[in-house]
Amino acid sequence: MKHITIAIDGPAAAGKGTLSRRLAETYGFHHLDTGLTYRATAKALIDTGLPFDDEAVAERMALDVDLAGLDRSVLARHEIGEAASKIAVMPSVRRALVEAQRAFSKKMPGTVLDGRDIGTVVCPDAAVKLYVTASPEVRARRRYDEIVASGQAADYDAIVEDVKKRDDRDMNRADSPLRPADDAVLLDTSEMSIEAAFQAAKRIVDAALN
Ligand code: DC
Repeated sequence: MKHITIAIDGPAAAGKGTLSRRLAETYGFHHLDTGLTYRATAKALIDTGLPFDDEAVAERMALDVDLAGLDRSVLARHEIGEAASKIAVMPSVRRALVEAQRAFSKKMPGTVLDGRDIGTVVCPDAAVKLYVTASPEVRARRRYDEIVASGQAADYDAIVEDVKKRDDRDMNRADSPLRPADDAVLLDTSEMSIEAAFQAAKRIVDAALN
């Protein structure tokens, strides 16, 4: 059987994670949320208490990240996401994490990786590339609903600002900025339910694999 990688990129809170997990389950593939590798590096750096702009220390943390030990519940915190977006501009951090992500992508029988640069840098030869997006307002609304559903207070306007700031940082950095690969299929989920987005993604993957 031929090894297959599905690359899923897109901005923060576009629903990549849910789609990727469901696709991986559907096809029996291994899944890696590469954002967690940047988050784990950021958390390790925060835990050292050392200054955040020391790229050599950040690189050491990146080299030590254990892909088998990524704990979403610990790494989901907002401050860790912000910190991750800051260390993600450092070329030596990216080099270390991309190498680990590429090794993961080769697992049999196949893999789903989601992030910002999977189709462009990490797995340019992926069999299927999806670029999942939604308007900043829709993404902020989804995040707002999630926070409120968990029983916490949330400020919608602050979340919209935050989503836009993160997009700006992710799209305008010099090394591996967020952008669709030339051969990616665009999936705008602004007007779709999670279920409809999953069905659309599955149709795209099925069409590419057949
Ligand atoms: O998807 P996320 O919110 O967990 O990602 C956190 C940060 O990590 C994001 O703002 C940018 C960075 N990131 C990246 O630069 N490249 C990836 N492949 C994944 C995430």
